[in-house]
Amino acid sequence: MNKPGVLSIKPFRRLWIAVSLSSLGDWLSLLALTAAAHALTGSYAAQAYAVGGVLAAKLLPVLVFGPVAGALADRLDRRAVMLGADVVRFGLLLSVPLVGRLEWLFAAAFLTELASLLRRPAEDATVPALVPPKLYPRAKSVAVWTVYGSAPLAGVVFAVTSLLAGLFLPGPDLALYVSAGVFLVGAVVVFTLKTGPTRHPVSVPSLPGRVLDGWKYAGGSELVRGLVIGLFGVSLAGGLLIGVLRPSAAALGAGDAGYGMLFAAVFLGLASGMLLGPRILRDLSRRRLFGLAVLATALVLVPAALIQELVAVFVLSGVVGFGAGVAGATAEAVIGQEVRDDLRDRTSSYLRSLVRVVLTISAVLAPAASGALGQHVLALGDLSYRIQGTAEVLLIGAVVTLLAGLGAFRLTDDRRGIPLKADLYGALQGVAYVPPVPGVKKKERGLFIAFEGGEGAGKTTQSRLLAIWLRDNGFDVVNTREPGATKVGMRLRAILLDRETTALSDRAESLLYAADRAQHVDAVIRPALEHGSVVITDRYVDSSLAYQAYGREQAVEEIREVNAWATGGLVPDLTVLLDVPPSVGLNRFASPADRIESEPEDFHNRVRRGFRALADADPDRYLVVDASQDQDAITRLIQDKVRSILPDPVPASAEDVTSTFPAIRDL
Ligand code: TYD
Repeated sequence: MNKPGVLSIKPFRRLWIAVSLSSLGDWLSLLALTAAAHALTGSYAAQAYAVGGVLAAKLLPVLVFGPVAGALADRLDRRAVMLGADVVRFGLLLSVPLVGRLEWLFAAAFLTELASLLRRPAEDATVPALVPPKLYPRAKSVAVWTVYGSAPLAGVVFAVTSLLAGLFLPGPDLALYVSAGVFLVGAVVVFTLKTGPTRHPVSVPSLPGRVLDGWKYAGGSELVRGLVIGLFGVSLAGGLLIGVLRPSAAALGAGDAGYGMLFAAVFLGLASGMLLGPRILRDLSRRRLFGLAVLATALVLVPAALIQELVAVFVLSGVVGFGAGVAGATAEAVIGQEVRDDLRDRTSSYLRSLVRVVLTISAVLAPAASGALGQHVLALGDLSYRIQGTAEVLLIGAVVTLLAGLGAFRLTDDRRGIPLKADLYGALQGVAYVPPVPGVKKKERGLFIAFEGGEGAGKTTQSRLLAIWLRDNGFDVVNTREPGATKVGMRLRAILLDRETTALSDRAESLLYAADRAQHVDAVIRPALEHGSVVITDRYVDSSLAYQAYGREQAVEEIREVNAWATGGLVPDLTVLLDVPPSVGLNRFASPADRIESEPEDFHNRVRRGFRALADADPDRYLVVDASQDQDAITRLIQDKVRSILPDPVPASAEDVTSTFPAIRDL
């Protein structure tokens, strides 16, 4: 990701180049060493074990020496550690093709990883010397993107060197030399680094320890348990896939170049999933998207295992990476939104450690397991299908990930009882699906228009003008208002607006408005709509959202729910919002203020903001009119909008009729 903020700091940029070279070298040497191990062995099983051995040798240091490495790196000069690690890795990689023995290759894999392990905390500890504290988080995010971003690049570089190597060098030797070269250049960059003295402590907590520790509190929350299970699933899928790539490439007849490209595909997919995840199906619940991403990853793993065609496997590998990336980014988003402040950082760092551990262990086990399973031939009549050990491993992984996805979906689902199909269909069309309220018939006829706005916005005048215009054009119009359009409503209105009513609680006030509305819908609005009339109401649910939720600072969702229940889910076809600053609107009054009008100006400002937020969230259903304009202009804007949603077009000549109306003001 582009973070010019930190990268424009020159010394940091230099460190960043050094870190990029180091991670590029790490990934490239991983590929080169696994490929070299593959090349040094013969049979299918032996090759699989050899690849597994390299991965295991690379896993061992972090498991065994993780915490020690941190403590050790802390005692030494940061720059010296980085420089030393680069030089050592350069030497080790250079020696592998020269020695040409599998045992030495394993040892070199182990030792290069150990050097990287010491180097990383030294890099982290250098950042504070180069970057002002407020940019730390950015520096950290640059670092994460650098580490993962260099993986696909390494895949491509490896593929290219493998193709070139075919011309003049045996097997993966050239790739080993190139990785050695990358570390050497890295060493030169580190040499020119001016870090100054830094005594910022480094710490490397033990990875397995953190994972076990984390489960203790994560186990308590259903949400975190769901995320853990789902992330376990995608990391397993990703790890197994990465682990079997070298033997799969061989089975596909693709060799090292194919291996590099498949590797690049997985990580490119991963990076795009992480980038695009938050933008996918924005109207779908993030928790549901998480479960779906895990399930999709599992399902894609099946064809990735069975299809024996390089290009298809390349694409499918990218899709597996993508699914895992979406799941990861979505999990982060869910944690950001829903996990308590004091647990948020711990939870996400716990989940990240979990992903790393599961990913690495499954990458180690995959080749070994596929070596143990070997190749089988399935005979189906005349057809025979050769199934590889690698495919079997991926299929087992797909089943486990599928189960994990189902578990994750069930545990994290925040829309239980709402069919996924409807939710998905809605999300694809860009609208959040609102479930119908049970037992309520959908409105099929008529047209329902609400007028909303603060005090003195001119709703009453405009709603009456609209009613007259529509009647004049042959529509049957019912003009009504809240609160107090029914007999019961009149009594509620008296309680609500009388200044004698003191100490009415916010919740009681909300329920009384909702009660008035329930009666209004039941006795007036719904019968009129069923009769096919146009219903125009002066205030409706949005007034409660603006006044009782935003104004009284109660939870918007709660007020929305109460009102959805009260109205049986009846929503206007159009809401006209007459927007006016409270300072203007409140001055239009001649009569003494009622209980709500006499609220302080702050309250009315919140109400106005509430109305505007509601309109912004659903622009198709709203007409927002600046109510400080000339009345005729407002009338015309409203007519234009209403004309566009009327069941039958109103003849253009109707406009002439409008202008002949006697002006009706403040009835
Ligand atoms: P009303 O005299 O009808 O005023 P207006 O001409 O502004 O519509 O009074 C309704 C008052 O009740 C108004 O101040 C807004 C308030 N109100 C709510 O607080 N919540 C609601 O749900 C509704 C319908 C109105």
